[in-house]
Amino acid sequence: MEQKLRITVPDFPNLAYLKTGTGPAMILLHGFPESGDLWRKVWPALAAHFTVIVPDLPGSGESTFSGESVSIEGLAKSVKAIADHEQVEQVVIAGHSMGGYVALAFADLYGSKLAGLSLVHSTAAADSEEKKETRRKSIELINKGGKEAFIRQMIPALFSKGFKENKAALDKEIAKGLRLEAKSMVAFYNAMINRPERIATLNGVSYPVQWIFGKEDTVIPAKNVIQQSTLANVNLVSVYPEAAHMSMLEVPERLAKDLHEFGQYCFRLTR
Ligand code: MLT
Repeated sequence: MEQKLRITVPDFPNLAYLKTGTGPAMILLHGFPESGDLWRKVWPALAAHFTVIVPDLPGSGESTFSGESVSIEGLAKSVKAIADHEQVEQVVIAGHSMGGYVALAFADLYGSKLAGLSLVHSTAAADSEEKKETRRKSIELINKGGKEAFIRQMIPALFSKGFKENKAALDKEIAKGLRLEAKSMVAFYNAMINRPERIATLNGVSYPVQWIFGKEDTVIPAKNVIQQSTLANVNLVSVYPEAAHMSMLEVPERLAKDLHEFGQYCFRLTR
């Protein structure tokens, strides 16, 4: 059964998340400019094996943040608040792109709670100066009322050529992206600009780390990140030839299978 739940904690007046399934806990964190709904094609298969928790990060979906800004660390604290509320002792966290930055901050702050960390089209590197500059230009555009133009140009660049041939599917994702408020977009972009590098976070960690790469990903190209997949003591690497940055929509069965096997390995499950 899928339940949509809502809690209130200091700093986060309204945290919404989906909970489904039974078994050890797996948290799925969405990226930018998405909401928990991004994982809709993946969580049903995982729910047969895990208690799957899918937050709307504060500022997206049905969750709000107080004040005008968030930080990647603050977002990690909101994930911890949900985990505490659900009395989760050990968890596998899978973070997509910006969700991966949040998962890495969680690893920094609460590493002892992690049974495993899955980085899905993500990186432990900080933004390059060039990337920061591009983000600042986008912030300027959004602040001048250009949110729609920004989303219409940004979303198609996330997907593989194959996915984009389905115009209806792409339009649906653009429409979902447009639901994010301009102030949240700016807050997330500033949070990403300000996040530190977290390469050291992964150095020699004892929990397994999973890496999911899309061969067509131009947002976080595999070639820029692959070296990071030698940092932890145990690394499991998958490269999807037919995916770009959005495997949860491009090849959802493959990603669900890899996440299931990773969770099985981390929790030493037999099914
Ligand atoms: C995302 O998918 O979360 C963003 O593309 C991440 C980023 O812009 O660094």
